[in-house]
Amino acid sequence: MNATVVKDRLLEIRRLTPKLGAEIMNVKLADGVSNELFRDIYDAFLRYQVLLFPPQDVPPASQVAFARRFGEVQIHVMNQYHADGFPELYRLSNLDEDGKPTGKHPDKGTLAWHTDGSWQRVTGQATIIYGEVMPEVGGETHFCDMYGAYERLSPGWKQRIADMRAVHNLDFSRTRRHGEDPMSEEQKRAKPPVDHPIVRTHPETGRKCLFLGDHAEYIVGMPYDEGRALIEEFNALAIHPDLTYEHRWTANELMLWDNRCVMHRATAYDPATQRRVIRRCTVLGQVPA
Ligand SMILES: [Fe+2]
Repeated sequence: MNATVVKDRLLEIRRLTPKLGAEIMNVKLADGVSNELFRDIYDAFLRYQVLLFPPQDVPPASQVAFARRFGEVQIHVMNQYHADGFPELYRLSNLDEDGKPTGKHPDKGTLAWHTDGSWQRVTGQATIIYGEVMPEVGGETHFCDMYGAYERLSPGWKQRIADMRAVHNLDFSRTRRHGEDPMSEEQKRAKPPVDHPIVRTHPETGRKCLFLGDHAEYIVGMPYDEGRALIEEFNALAIHPDLTYEHRWTANELMLWDNRCVMHRATAYDPATQRRVIRRCTVLGQVPA
């Protein structure tokens, strides 16, 4: 066994960085996951925040079954992306029916640091992505630890934001990035803006973390422009290189992360020459508190 791989109960684990992320070396998800194995995977999910499973065949049904172990799986409001007969799966692809790149990026909103589902009252817990086709250049996923981001704030900042709430709005984050189709009126009615604390307490670990990202639009009780400026400042302040893991994908890897304490973003790729197809699902969490 590689010296960097450690045995942790049923898992063989290789840490991705000293602070964030772990690769689970010895689990084939399509074989099914026993209760004991899931307990260990879930503990690793809480501890490492980001988990990677090395290249393996994970059929859509296996991905959905694994996601359901974590909790209720979101049926996404943007129904144009539903995939494989599973409304829980959201396929993001830049390919046409012949498998050729279209030149169109399917979701520019993912290029900015964000946390999945923060625009809902009940926000995302785990996001689970399976990479079917990955580009040779670009299209990485970056993760940053929001426990660490909070812990590094000065006492003055911690005090200032302790009771602040931010309004998260999917229509805002989609349309401010040029080129996305606006949400339909029906989609907007289904998902109106919601407010959440900027500092949340993780419901399982009990640790405090920053909860902002690209869907956060303004701050309750503060003039709009002042709140926008503060959110932009905090979104930048939250990213520390030593608290970040940058993943360069290999096809057929599966990754999952805890949206309650991690922000993430995808890096750009050339959608006219590179091919990228991912299958994503998001498990619903709690109302942040
Ligand atoms: Fe995302």
